[in-house]
Amino acid sequence: TITILSAVAVAYLLGSVPTAILVCHSMGIADPRQQGSGNPGTTNVLRAGNRLAALITLVGDLSKGALSIAIANWLELSIYEQGFAGIAALVGHIWSIFMRFTGGKGVATMLGGCLVLDYQLGLIQCTVWCGLLIFRRISSLAAIGMALLSPALCWLMVPQLIIPIGIMCLIIIATHHQNIRKLMAGHESPL
Ligand code: G3P
Repeated sequence: TITILSAVAVAYLLGSVPTAILVCHSMGIADPRQQGSGNPGTTNVLRAGNRLAALITLVGDLSKGALSIAIANWLELSIYEQGFAGIAALVGHIWSIFMRFTGGKGVATMLGGCLVLDYQLGLIQCTVWCGLLIFRRISSLAAIGMALLSPALCWLMVPQLIIPIGIMCLIIIATHHQNIRKLMAGHESPL
């Protein structure tokens, strides 16, 4: 139990690191919370026009999820338990302890975690996300589509992860509630 709690605590703290804000601050770029959608994530940094900052944010947020699972794996937790470290990293990203419990929407952090939990599942999720992004050019739509499809993919490929991955997908859909409203009204901003 102590091992699980340690892995979850470390994952929550890692997830809480506000990558987009740190990257923009250190590169002298305006705070992503003050522009575009107001979301501190890759999409909104890209929207502000800085591709390098967006790429570093993406890699940083993917790494938070990936590292959280790698640590849980190193602590010899079962894959099911590792899934809960993934949830903790996602929760940290969205409700960061360093940001007065605010944060981003969690897409990259979840994908990074899934890539280490099961690289085949993670690669398919990334392909779905990239494919939707390329075809529709709307980041939130790509994220929501990926989150809707992931439980079925997980059920087929790694059924023992269905509960933690299902929870992550529900959280991702919930963080996109404003995007869903904008998509339905036809007002969502493209990439
Ligand atoms: O990863 C976040 C993305 O799905 C939506 O971002 O800035 O368009 O709300 P944004």
